[in-house]
Amino acid sequence: MVLGLMLTGTLYAAFAPSSSAGSASSDEELVETGRNLFLVGCSTCHGQNGEGITTLEGDQLGPALAGVGAAAVDFQVGTGRMPAAQPGAQNPTKPVTYSDEEIKALAAFVASLGPGPSVPDPSDYSLAGLSEEEREEAVSRGGQIFLTNCTACHNFAGKGGAMPRGGNAPNLSDTSAKHIYEALLTGPGQMDTFSNGNLSPEEKRDVIAYLYSLREQPQYGGFDLGGMGPVSEGMFAWIVGIGSLVCFATWIAAHTARTSRRKDEAAA
Ligand code: HEC
Ligand code: HEC
Repeated sequence: MVLGLMLTGTLYAAFAPSSSAGSASSDEELVETGRNLFLVGCSTCHGQNGEGITTLEGDQLGPALAGVGAAAVDFQVGTGRMPAAQPGAQNPTKPVTYSDEEIKALAAFVASLGPGPSVPDPSDYSLAGLSEEEREEAVSRGGQIFLTNCTACHNFAGKGGAMPRGGNAPNLSDTSAKHIYEALLTGPGQMDTFSNGNLSPEEKRDVIAYLYSLREQPQYGGFDLGGMGPVSEGMFAWIVGIGSLVCFATWIAAHTARTSRRKDEAAA
């Protein structure tokens, strides 16, 4: 059996298609570069082969990365979330520490661990090819998708909000189209994953069009109260509205016939 296996192995090696050898070897180089970067910058939390590390106390230093795909690496490293400085409820964004080439290599290495979503192509998320009219339609469809799927966490104006266990859903007004697309594909942290099966690439692009349209919205003057919607508007109504009613009620109480009679009696 061993002989048979060796024979098929050798025969395969001899006859395997060699036409793609050029690109395959450069892919291998990329994965190799990525592996070296990974060993230095990521393996302390994610393990030498991206298998994840859990301490003896049961705390997870970093999750296993097989199958998260190149898109997850491009998002996490491209927004500065990774390499995480320390384990915590949620990894904050910070200045990006790797060059684009290095991120590509890291992504290639992680993608080699198991199949997962790849980095989207600009044609998937770019709004440049849309006519004025197509863009308007995309914005209205995207708005509906956003209102049903995202406002619970990100607030209706995409300004973000608090999450349980010390996390927060970030403000989306600076996130690039590529990172919005990748966040949807990979579901970072406590966010749900919106795979292409449940939110098609066109629907993802519609959401991007909607979020971009919010950035272009003119300010109509007056206080926007941080654009936080019901929370700050409710606060405003409570403090200013109910507050002035309470003052008014106190004022009325101080000027009724009974209070002035009591004052007269006191004077007498
Ligand atoms: C269950 C709550 C939840 C829902 C629903 C949700 N998100 Fe998120 N989202 C989060 C959290 C939490 C993060 C931060 C994750 C982290 O940093 O690890 C996040 C991160 C993001 C980011 C990355 C922002 C940045 O600047 O890096 C984008 C973009 C995003 N979400 C878009 C969306 C869109 C679009 C939808 C709807 C289709 C959506 N999210 C639905 C909770 C949610
Ligand atoms: C200090 C520990 C630490 C270091 C160093 C670190 N990570 Fe992470 N990483 C984490 C933790 C914790 C999470 C889980 C974050 C979450 O769920 O919000 C994570 C999540 C990720 C994810 C998302 C996985 C998913 O399920 O979508 C990717 C991709 C990733 N890390 C890549 C990297 C890469 C690449 C590096 C090196 C450049 C790195 N990490 C360095 C701790 C670390």
